Amino acid sequence: MLINTREVPTFAVIALGGCCWDYLGIIPHYPGVDQKVAIAELSMQGGGQAGTGAVAVARLGGKVAIVSRIGEDEFGRHIRETFEAEGVDTRWLMQVPGATSQWAFCAIDETTGKRTIFYIHGTKGKFTPEELDREAILDCRCLLVDGHHNVAAAQVVRWAQEAGVPVVLDLERRQDQDDVLLTRASHPVLPHKFALSYTGEGDVVAAGEALLAAGPQAVVITLGPEGAVGFDADGVIHQPAIPMEPIVDTTGAGDVFHGAFAYGVAMGHDLAENLRFSSAVAAMKCRMLGGRAGIPTMSEVQRLLSSGRPQRI
Ligand SMILES: Nc1ncnc2c1ncn2[C@@H]1O[C@H](COP(=O)(O)OP(=O)(O)O)[C@@H](O)[C@H]1O
Ligand SMILES: [Mg+2]
Repeated sequence: MLINTREVPTFAVIALGGCCWDYLGIIPHYPGVDQKVAIAELSMQGGGQAGTGAVAVARLGGKVAIVSRIGEDEFGRHIRETFEAEGVDTRWLMQVPGATSQWAFCAIDETTGKRTIFYIHGTKGKFTPEELDREAILDCRCLLVDGHHNVAAAQVVRWAQEAGVPVVLDLERRQDQDDVLLTRASHPVLPHKFALSYTGEGDVVAAGEALLAAGPQAVVITLGPEGAVGFDADGVIHQPAIPMEPIVDTTGAGDVFHGAFAYGVAMGHDLAENLRFSSAVAAMKCRMLGGRAGIPTMSEVQRLLSSGRPQRI
């Protein structure tokens, strides 16, 4: 019997977007210009929105592929090796000859776990729509798309909408194609600064409602330690952040939230269930230094989650 690949996709999640190599250091305070500060703890890990989202899916047990570009350098080698060690499929991780990879230094404030990031974009460039294969990229239960390859991302989101494949969208900075991405992706999941800036609204509920009215099935706005707010046809849900001790580093909390949320969509979670699941995964990530070290396995998340569900408001 022939198996329809749409009904049994190869991947739970395919993640299209950025990946980089992070150096992370915990510091007692931010130094002023021309001052020095000692780093208490240093770590090197893979990073990036789609890259860390993909690793979250893999850690949770989902079959996942990364669609991204790296340079021909040592950072690119580390990026690829860590994806492979995590079980992320790298068949579409393209090494660009002679190019440099994206790199970041994240300075983590010891008291709050908040991060300040210095980064180099690298010269690996962006995918063009012609470089991506429609059939291959839709062979999943859910796409995770960040704004990194924005023109190619807009094409992918159009394809996904036509084919009925859900898309979890992660945008951090305003750029071309935002309108296409935000009206056609089924699940924009946005940090609150972006949501307020894009909509011009003064509060999160008004911003979420405006974004939902433009077309998506559901919208989520994340609020860091204040949690996340979900919007769909049934109303508005506030999911508080899941309390976690200690909060060591919030770098990548949003990236991990997105990866978990995309896997939740792939598993058929409803919005309330998925907000709770993704918040638990993101909170557990904050226990350790770096975007990826603290990402839990599925059994660790299940142990953390209590039985109550958030209420609709
Ligand atoms: N201090 C924290 N404690 C527990 N959960 C957190 C904390 N900071 C962030 N999170 C979780 O991570 C999610 C995404 O964080 P946020 O800071 O909004 O995104 P980004 O990292 O993209 O800026 C939040 O909605 C929350 O669920
Ligand atoms: Mg983010």
